Amino acid sequence: GYGMQLMVRTLGGKVFSTKKQWFSKATLHIKNKGNLLKGLPSRIIGWMNEGVLVQEPPAGFSILAGSSTCPVAAMADEKRKLFGLNFHPEVAHTSQGTDILKNFLYDICGFRGDWTMESFIGESVSSIKDRVKDSKAVCGLSGGVDSMVAALLTHKAIGDQLTCIFVDHGLLRKGEVEQVKEIFEKTFRAKLRTVDASAEFLKLLHNVADPEEKRKIIGSHFIRVFEREASSLGKIDFLVQGTLYTDVVESGTAAAATIKSHHNVGGLPERMPFELVEPLRQLFKDEVREVGRLLGLPDGIILRQPFPGPGLAIRVLGPVTKEKLDILREADAIVTEEIKNAGLYEEIWQSFVVLPEIKSVGVKGDERTYDYAVVLRAVESKDGMTADWARLPYDLLEKISYRVVNEVPQVNRFLYDLTPKPPATIEWE
Ligand code: XMP
Repeated sequence: GYGMQLMVRTLGGKVFSTKKQWFSKATLHIKNKGNLLKGLPSRIIGWMNEGVLVQEPPAGFSILAGSSTCPVAAMADEKRKLFGLNFHPEVAHTSQGTDILKNFLYDICGFRGDWTMESFIGESVSSIKDRVKDSKAVCGLSGGVDSMVAALLTHKAIGDQLTCIFVDHGLLRKGEVEQVKEIFEKTFRAKLRTVDASAEFLKLLHNVADPEEKRKIIGSHFIRVFEREASSLGKIDFLVQGTLYTDVVESGTAAAATIKSHHNVGGLPERMPFELVEPLRQLFKDEVREVGRLLGLPDGIILRQPFPGPGLAIRVLGPVTKEKLDILREADAIVTEEIKNAGLYEEIWQSFVVLPEIKSVGVKGDERTYDYAVVLRAVESKDGMTADWARLPYDLLEKISYRVVNEVPQVNRFLYDLTPKPPATIEWE
């Protein structure tokens, strides 16, 4: 949208600002398809922010589409190959957004789309080989698909020069440490070390309420634990991380503002004794899953829902304590079990519990209670960049709520978060 507005201003058209600053859904009427909207129906749904609108496109442009409140939602100057959209084609809920991007990339720009995940594997294995040569590398394993795929690619490139280190920061979900070890032993032939550093992390997080501070503490202590472990393995020059493109973008690039410093990017300490190997830095989650599949990872890992590096520390809002982590773990385990039983685990992007700093009055048996409220966050998304809350069946919500408030003694209220991203983010911190 901003690109289009800037183009209009620069080329002599007119824009005006409205007071409407929110992100909303609009029905767009297509008047003239041109090359950009070729093949689309005459009406589509577009998600947009109508804070600034085009009043008059510059000379040479024709209006392709508009809505009742946004007269110029798409415009083109086919001769000069200039195109502008005032809505988000990349948001999953914009209907036909992908078709618009395809028209632009393939027909207008002339790209061929021949960058496949097979070619990516070949290129990245040889580039890791070239970079690491005879040196040794360590890889931080989190149990999620990203670090597993990063480890697998690196193992393919350098074999036993790689040691995987799994740090239990005490912020994992119920039973997760055992699960990760089991999966690893079944799938990999690489070397693995497990370190229980939970007490250290909890101590460092004591009384820390600010989410960015939590991420930075966790990110930098992770590296310190690695350094410690790695120093017992001889000279290690490289640290392998499963950083994704989403993490890079949201941690702030030259072109994007910092939304959250994802702990494996923005949270890194300035001084590190390792060079980073981040083979997935250009990929989105769905592409990482495809690479994992091609490398033979079982669906059990590939289809695991994403889990943030800072773990439950960013789901316990405010200061993190062992007691709060345990409450969250119990509630979260119930949610995961029920979502799996309902056959929805692999269909939705993420489903988890958040523990806000809210206590409220309730009644259990004949007793007044004053206990925690927990929030269910369940979202659908393709890449984590945008998301919408999952329309879970009422019966399932009822069952989960009933079990959580009855089986977790410290919880007496159960809430469901109905906010899309944007304006919210998926995680609460
Ligand atoms: P947000 O909350 O930014 O989340 O909408 C988008 C996706 O990223 C995950 N996430 C993180 N992953 N370190 C990570 O490795 C982080 O600090 C972090 N913060 C959010 C989140 O779970 C979602 O899938």
